[in-house]
Amino acid sequence: MDSTLDTFLWLIFPYICLTVFVLGHVGRYRYDKFGWTSRSSQMYESSILRWANPMFHFGILAVFFGHVMGLGIPKSWTDAVGISDGMYHFMAISVGAVAGVFTIVGLIGLLYRRRFTKAVLGVTTRMDKLMYVMLVVVILTGLINTGSGVVGDYNYREGVSVWFRSIFYFNPQPELMVDAPLSFQLHGLFAITLFAVWPFTRLVHAFTAPLGYVFRPYILYRSRDDHEGSRSRRRGWDKVDTIPRRR
Ligand code: HEM
Repeated sequence: MDSTLDTFLWLIFPYICLTVFVLGHVGRYRYDKFGWTSRSSQMYESSILRWANPMFHFGILAVFFGHVMGLGIPKSWTDAVGISDGMYHFMAISVGAVAGVFTIVGLIGLLYRRRFTKAVLGVTTRMDKLMYVMLVVVILTGLINTGSGVVGDYNYREGVSVWFRSIFYFNPQPELMVDAPLSFQLHGLFAITLFAVWPFTRLVHAFTAPLGYVFRPYILYRSRDDHEGSRSRRRGWDKVDTIPRRR
């Protein structure tokens, strides 16, 4: 590897983006805790949201687990348990195709709704627009990668995946990305840029789980008065001992 640009793109830039990702989330939480939300627009439109939102989230969750498997688990491990290359790629492409179709159809629904429902467009910020453009580019280049798995012979588990892990081992191997096909380079580049933008967008809601809800105490509902329930009180004098107790 000889170019300064390559060193920047596949070594320096990923660390910058990951640092912004981590510090950005910490900063956002400290200074904008109450803005940590998906900024729901359900009250403006719900009929498209009802199918597009679960579709997108189901798809992207499956894509996430696919990435954990494809990028996180070394090929030698799957070899060791007897999963052949052919078997692995059949699984990746078939499950990946279903996940990819759910993600993209869901996303088209969400984007259509955001663009053509006036009220939803009205609450869409510039940052939202940037985030959607990046999401579309990352997802489309990802789908091209999966498609190239059917026709091409590039084995990303010996290239892109090893590069990805090398970043986290602090033993970066940028030369592996220099040798990768263009669609894999673009996908990787846009994905790490998305990581840098992530903490400043509504995507922060991905790290929100209502865990406290599981352990919350019961909510007690009490009528205003033990005898009268919620009936309105009669006007006039109250007999001694029948005056409702206030809590
Ligand atoms: C640096 C980080 C990333 C790397 C190195 C990476 C790498 C890859 C690779 C190698 C594939 C092909 C998988 C296969 O065919 O088995 C792929 C597919 C894909 N990626 Fe990524 N990816 C990254 C981050 C992301 C992110 C952040 C998103 C979305 C927000 C994303 C969305 C997708 C999608 C939608 C596909 C198509 C999967 C499918 O068909 O189910 N990727 N990615």
